[in-house]
Amino acid sequence: MLDVSDVHTYYGDSHILHGVSLDVAPGEVVAILGRNGMGKTTLIRSVVGFSPPRRGRVSFKGNDVTAWAPFRRVERGMALVPQGRRVFASLSVRENLDVARGGTGRWDMARVYALFPRLAERAQNRANKLSGGEQQMLAIGRALMSNPELLLMDEPTEGLAPLLVREVGRVIAELKRAGLSILLVEQNLPMAASVADRVHVLNRGQIVYSGRPAALLADEDVKSRYLGVASTT
Ligand SMILES: Nc1ncnc2c1ncn2[C@@H]1O[C@H](COP(=O)(O)OP(=O)(O)OP(=O)(O)O)[C@@H](O)[C@H]1O
Ligand SMILES: [Mg+2]
Repeated sequence: MLDVSDVHTYYGDSHILHGVSLDVAPGEVVAILGRNGMGKTTLIRSVVGFSPPRRGRVSFKGNDVTAWAPFRRVERGMALVPQGRRVFASLSVRENLDVARGGTGRWDMARVYALFPRLAERAQNRANKLSGGEQQMLAIGRALMSNPELLLMDEPTEGLAPLLVREVGRVIAELKRAGLSILLVEQNLPMAASVADRVHVLNRGQIVYSGRPAALLADEDVKSRYLGVASTT
């Protein structure tokens, strides 16, 4: 589905990603963990095309898309749930979903409302009247409206209360069952570990750990060094 190979990404002269490689197989959930400022969003931006890598390659569904404009990648089946949600504040829930309509497939407004009944109840409300959790659901629903095959999610649980973190985890598990491939950026290790097939830890623009979630959960050294999780032993 997605193949990222030796990607180097810069902002001006700042060299942010130093040779990142990873892949996402069809139907797989792959999580990227790492502390603030380690390059997680830059990696997502490199994949979707807002910050194309200066070196390396991004392949999507068999095409080398490294130089493609973001809209072409979206047309081909990528969708982004951006960090900080970024819904259209002055549009209603319904309008936010409507403007994102695209592609062909199973996702339409009825199915998004079935996944998020709360959004159906609030269909006529302006997005800026929604709670943080509801805005996150709307951001996910909006991405689904384009009928993607690969969903890129950048810290979907940021700033959410524990109950809503679990709700986002439930939704990701349901999307995986529906067959979507997901590249998930998270700082919430338990949530990411509960839904991911594989995890990578990003530190200063490099992948410093790759493995199964259970192995990472058991690795006190990696958790304390790179994720700021206090050792319990
Ligand atoms: N537009 C930009 N111009 C210059 N430097 C940037 C820009 N955006 C991010 N950076 C820098 O790039 C590095 C990686 O940032 P990035 O946003 O990818 O981190 P992150 O892992 O997503 O962090 P967070 O968890 O806080 O979202 C940081 O040092 C940051 O200051
Ligand atoms: Mg970020």
